Amino acid sequence: MPLHLPPDLDARPTPFYLYDLDLLRRTLQAAQQAARPRAIQVHYALKANANQPIMDLVREYGLGADCVSGNEVQCALDAGFAPAHVVFAGVGKSDAEINRALAADIWCFNVESAPELLVLNELAGRQGRRARVALRLNPNVDARTHHYITTGLEANKFGIGLGELAGVVELLPTLPHVELVGLHVHIGSQITDLAVFETLCHRVNELQQWFEHRGLALPHLNVGGGLGVDYEQPDEQLVPDFEAYFSLFERYLQRRPGQQVHVELGRSLVAQCGTLVSRVLYVKESQQTRFAILDAGMTELIRPALYQSYHRIENLSSQAPAQLYDVVGPICESSDTFGRQVSLPETRRGDLVVLRTAGAYGQVMASRYNLRDEAPAVYVG
Ligand code: LLP
Repeated sequence: MPLHLPPDLDARPTPFYLYDLDLLRRTLQAAQQAARPRAIQVHYALKANANQPIMDLVREYGLGADCVSGNEVQCALDAGFAPAHVVFAGVGKSDAEINRALAADIWCFNVESAPELLVLNELAGRQGRRARVALRLNPNVDARTHHYITTGLEANKFGIGLGELAGVVELLPTLPHVELVGLHVHIGSQITDLAVFETLCHRVNELQQWFEHRGLALPHLNVGGGLGVDYEQPDEQLVPDFEAYFSLFERYLQRRPGQQVHVELGRSLVAQCGTLVSRVLYVKESQQTRFAILDAGMTELIRPALYQSYHRIENLSSQAPAQLYDVVGPICESSDTFGRQVSLPETRRGDLVVLRTAGAYGQVMASRYNLRDEAPAVYVG
C-alpha cells in the first residue's frame, strides 16, 4: 500500500482529505522535466484544487496559474504567483472580475466571445490599459470523455465557434484597448486517448495558418489542459506520463520561431496526491444488497454522483475475505453512492475506507448540503 498515512490516523475524526505532498512534488517535477526542455509553459488550473499548501508547491516548481473566476485570480495573486504568470479564462467573466484582473495587470485574458471582447475593450479603456488577449476557439474536436466535461464541440458553450471567428477577428482593429497575443483551445478533461491531442494539434495548425493568411501573428499558443489520470489502478501510475503528453505537442504542433506554447493542467498534477478518508458508520443488509454506509458522502466528493465517475475504494482496516458492498454516503439522496457491488474485505463499523484519486475536483466541489461540516485537509510528506 503506497498510501502515505498520518501517524495519528486512528485518532483523527473523519471524513478528511489527505494530501501526499511528496507525491505532489514528484508529479510537479516530472511535469516540469518533460515540459521545460520542450520550452512549454505549464499553468496550473486552480479549479482542480486551490488549497494553500498545494498552491505553494505549484508556485515553487515554477508553474503559472490558470484561473476561471475573479476569486481564483485573487487566490493566485495572494499565493504569490506573479501577475505575469496568471491567465484568466471563463465563458462568463463579470465586469467586476474583469476590472480586478485588469487592475492586477495579469498576463492574459482568454476571451470566449465577441460581446466579451467588446466589454473587455471598454473596461480596459476606462482603466487606461491595454488587455492582452488570447482568443479561445472552439475547435470542434471530440475529446472522447464524459459529455459533462467535453468542452471543444460546437454544441458546447465554450469558445468562439469557427463560424464566428472571422467576425471576431474583424472587430480587433476597432478595439484599441485589447491586444491579440495568441490562441487558446481546451477540449475537455480526463482525456486518456492521447490521439485526441494529436488531432487537436492538427486543428491548431490549421487555425494558425488561417490567422497568418490574414496577417495576424500569434506569439502564443495555449493548448489547454485535459490530460487524464488512472482512476482504476492509481498505484500503477501515480505520476502521469507527461513525457508522452508533451512529446505529442513537440511533434505535431507547427511552432513558429520564438512562439511560446502553454498548457493548463489541473487533474493530472493533483488528482493522485489526494485521498478522501472516511469511516464506516454502519453495514446494513437488505434482501438484495449489503450496504457499507460511510461518514463521507457526495458532499465531500460529488464526482461519482455527478459524472458516474469511478474512484477506487479501499478498506484499510480489514484483511478478511472479500464481499460485495454498495458503498454509500449518509446524504439524503440515492445518488449519494460511491460504488455498487464493490469487492472489499469484510467490512465492519469503524473501518477506515478511502476513496483514491480525489485530489482534483474533490474538495473544491464539496458542498454543505444537509448542513454538513466541511471536511478538513491533512497533509503528509
Ligand atoms: N483549462 C480550461 C479552460 C478548463 O476548462 C479546464 C478544466 C482546464 C484547463 C483543466 O483541465 P484538466 O487538466 O484538469 O483536465 N469537475 C470535472 C472537471 C471539470 C474540468 C473543467 N475544466 C471533474 O470532476 O471531472
